Amino acid sequence: MSRNEKISVLFRKKPIASQSNESGVLKRALGAFDLTTLGVGAIIGTGIFVLTGVAAAKYAGPGLVLSFLLAGIICAFAALCYSEFASTIPASGSAYTYSYTAFGEVIAWILGWDLILEYGFASAAVASGWSGYFQTLLSGFGLELPHALTSAFNPEKGTYFDITAAVITLIITFLLTRGVKEAARANGIMVGIKIIVVLIFIGVGVFYVQPANWHPFLPFGFSGVTAGAATVFFAYIGFDAVSTAAEEVKRPQRDLPIGIIASLAVCTVLYIVVSLILTGIVPFNMLNVSDPVAFAFEFVQLNGLSWIVSLGAITGITTVLLVMMYGQTRLLYSMSRDGLLSPVFSKVSGKSQTPAVGSWLAGIIVALFSGFISLGHLAELTNIGTLFAFAVVSIGIIVLRKNNPDLKRGFRVPLVPLIPILSALGCFYLMTRLAALTWITFFGWLIVGLIIYFAYGRHHSHLNPLRRK
Ligand code: ALA
Repeated sequence: MSRNEKISVLFRKKPIASQSNESGVLKRALGAFDLTTLGVGAIIGTGIFVLTGVAAAKYAGPGLVLSFLLAGIICAFAALCYSEFASTIPASGSAYTYSYTAFGEVIAWILGWDLILEYGFASAAVASGWSGYFQTLLSGFGLELPHALTSAFNPEKGTYFDITAAVITLIITFLLTRGVKEAARANGIMVGIKIIVVLIFIGVGVFYVQPANWHPFLPFGFSGVTAGAATVFFAYIGFDAVSTAAEEVKRPQRDLPIGIIASLAVCTVLYIVVSLILTGIVPFNMLNVSDPVAFAFEFVQLNGLSWIVSLGAITGITTVLLVMMYGQTRLLYSMSRDGLLSPVFSKVSGKSQTPAVGSWLAGIIVALFSGFISLGHLAELTNIGTLFAFAVVSIGIIVLRKNNPDLKRGFRVPLVPLIPILSALGCFYLMTRLAALTWITFFGWLIVGLIIYFAYGRHHSHLNPLRRK
């Protein structure tokens, strides 16, 4: 094979027509409202209930609200780009599938591999946030776990493994392998509870705000705000999950953009108000706890409400965990179905017809991560992976407009190429605000991924006419 031929193999593209009804078996039952609920279910979780505290105490202070605003604006640009892709190529697999069409196989692989990192670490991080609130509830009943098992590996503090986080991960894996119908039904109710709890926090908390707590507003300067934005960016992750439901939407070209943009808009407004109230109730330097939102109520002696908030947070975080872990199995399934990963991940079995073996493999690894690695690290790794994916999707819009100008698009990003460029630059900027260790781990992950691609995926890809079966 000549050098040019070899290069063109790397960039072989999946035809768009083959994608939109790849799994024509799925029923098209979802509308714009269902998608918005799905989005909000996937978005509001550990980010707002836990990471707000760390971000305020360590980076942004009361300026946390600006961090949320900045991260929200960048996400809004990225959400517009996701919407155009979702309305043009309504197939499951999200950003991985989009880049298979826009850029070709090797980039799709890099992105898919990157999304495995995103969903895997996000699930672990969300489980870790769940654990914090669960332990608060337990202590309300006078129950304590052995100290060594309360938090991630940190011998200096005497903690070795977060057993609660690992166990909830395995329970969710179990539920997913039993079939997702019941889980999806429960999801709607849990999303409702979560929103009510956030509204209670806002409605009651506003009366306990002490404006003096907002001074100094930027204790760590503007660089604290941007570092805070790179952390709380985590809170917005999930709107992209809306597009994974593409094959089950009644009118995807209209409803997907509405679902993506509406869920992001609802969450942005709630986050801005919650962060203002939180830093108004508790002095920012006291917020570095594992359950800041419940802690704020405890701080003003509203112990009963604090308990209700913890319960609501646990319920709400569970829905995020379900969606993230489900997204992980769906992604592995898509990549395996394309031949890039082992068939183990797309082998469905049992009465529930789910990819059980693949789900357990992924579930056990995520459980170990959630047990050993601290929430802060997990969140940073999730963020770097997601920001990278958002940037690639944004650039993908410009490429798709150039290469396939006549495709039917239900939604078009305004001001192309300006908005996609701003989105990509914003994402890269936030990536630069993350720690060096996060970058090193991220690069290590991508290199391992490329080795796997060249050793396995390139030969087994279904786009390879000489594929080894
Ligand atoms: N946005 C999701 C959360 O905050 C990942 O839990």
